[in-house]
Amino acid sequence: MEKFIVNGGCRLAGEIEISGAKNAAVAILPAVVLSDGLCRIENLPNIADVSASLEILSMLGAQVRRINKNAVEIDPRPLNTTVVPHDLARRMRASSYYIGSLLGRFGTARVSMPGGCNFGVRPIDQHLKGFTALGAEVSPMEQGMIEVTTEKLIGNSIYLDAVSVGATVNIMLAAVKARGTTVIENAAKEPHIVDLANFLNTMGADVRGAGTDVIKIRGVDQLTGATYSIIPDQIEAGTFMVAAAATGGDITVRNVIPKHLESITAKLMEMGVQVDEYDDAVRVTRTEPIHHCNVKTMPHPGFPTDMQPQIAVLLSMADGTSILTETVWDNRFRYVEELRRMGAQVQVDGKVAVFQGISRLTAAPIKATDLRAGMAMIIAGLVAKGTTEIEEIYHIERGYEDVEKKFTALGADIRRVTLPDGVLSSQAV
Ligand code: EPZ
Repeated sequence: MEKFIVNGGCRLAGEIEISGAKNAAVAILPAVVLSDGLCRIENLPNIADVSASLEILSMLGAQVRRINKNAVEIDPRPLNTTVVPHDLARRMRASSYYIGSLLGRFGTARVSMPGGCNFGVRPIDQHLKGFTALGAEVSPMEQGMIEVTTEKLIGNSIYLDAVSVGATVNIMLAAVKARGTTVIENAAKEPHIVDLANFLNTMGADVRGAGTDVIKIRGVDQLTGATYSIIPDQIEAGTFMVAAAATGGDITVRNVIPKHLESITAKLMEMGVQVDEYDDAVRVTRTEPIHHCNVKTMPHPGFPTDMQPQIAVLLSMADGTSILTETVWDNRFRYVEELRRMGAQVQVDGKVAVFQGISRLTAAPIKATDLRAGMAMIIAGLVAKGTTEIEEIYHIERGYEDVEKKFTALGADIRRVTLPDGVLSSQAV
C-alpha cells in the first residue's frame, strides 16, 4: 500500500507537459481490434488504465510491443478469443469498449461488467440498446458476464436517451464494419469522441460528424493499420490549471488544445484567475483572492464533471458562497467528507454542494475516493496548513502519469511512501 505525503504552502510555478488523453486512449486501444493491419499508437499516457487495456489486448491474442513509455505497436491480426474475463474487465470502466470492437470484428463478444470509479449507478443500457439496434442479441450470463452476438451487424438509426460517452464510443466501434449506415443521434461530443473518430478514419473508416450530436458511420469491409498520436488530456491540463490557481502560482501548461479547455478557462477567469492562451499552451497565474462562483457540470462543451472535485477545492477557498451542481452523475460528492476533514465548509443536498469559503484549509489524514477526487486531494494538501497524508492513491495512478514527478518539478513538496506489508497505514509516517 502506498500513500502521498504533501506539505502545504508551496506556490507552484514553472512549465508542465501534458500527457496523452486517458479517455481517448482507452477508446482507441479497443478500436485497434477492428484493424486488419499493424497499428502504432503514440502519445499514449503511461497510466494503469492503459496498462489494463494493453493486457486485455494481449490476452485476446494481439501482439503488443512497447516502443517506449508512450508508444506501442499492436498487431491485432492474431486475435483468437472474444472473451474478456472478470479479473481484467473489473480494472477499468472502458473494458466495456471491447464489446463494441469484438462485436464489430467477430460478430460476438463476451465481456464481464466493467469496473471504474464509483459514482453510484453506472448503467450501460444505452450501449446495449445500440448493439440491439444494429441487429445483435444481448444475453446476460452468470457471474456478471454479458454476451452480445449476431450473424451480421446492419446499420441503423439510434437515438441515445442519455448523452453517453461510453455508448457513443461503443456504438461507433460496433458500426464501423457493419453493413450500411449507422446514425447516432444525441451523441456525446467530448474531444475523445472526435479523437476516436479520427483514429478510425485514419484506418479507412467512414465516420462523419464526431464533435456534433449526430454521428454518421458508413460501414466499410476492411481497415488498414495506422500510426496515430493521441490528443493531449483535457482533464490533466485542467487539473494543473486549478493547481496553479489554488496555490497562487504561475504555471505554463504545455501540449494542450486550448479550445478543449474553454469551459475551465472561463470559470477560472470568473474566479479572478488570469489565463493566457497560446497555440498549444495556457499560462495560469493568480495574484488576487479567489472570487466565489457557481459551477454546473455538463456534457461537452459544458464544464466537465471530471473537473468537479478539483474546482471544489478552489470554491472551498473562495471569498463567499459558491454553488456547485453535478448534472452528469448521481453521486460524485463522496470526496466532500475528506475536504470537510480539512476544514472546508460544504453542505451537500443531492446533486448540489454549497461552499462557504474559508481562508485556508488545514492538513488532515484523507483518502482518494476516486481518480479525479484523488487529484483534488493533492491540490487541497498543497494549499493546506501542515502535512496532509493521502491514502488509496492507486485511484490516481489509473489516470495520471508521473504525478509526483510533475508536481515536484513545479515546486510542490510531495512524496510517496510505501507501507511495508502488514503495517496499518495509520502506523506509518
Ligand atoms: C465517461 O464515462 C468517462 N470515462 C468518465 O470519466 C466521465 O465522467 C463520463 O464519461 C462523463 O463525461 C471514460 O471515458 C472512460 P457516460 P462513461 O456514459 O462513458 C448515464 C474519469 O474520471 N448513462 O457518458 O461511463 C450515466 O448514468 C472518468 O476519467 C445511462 O443512463 O459515462 C451518466 O449519468 C470517470 N445509460 C451519464 O449517462 C448508459 O448506458 C453519462 O455517462 C450510459 C450512461
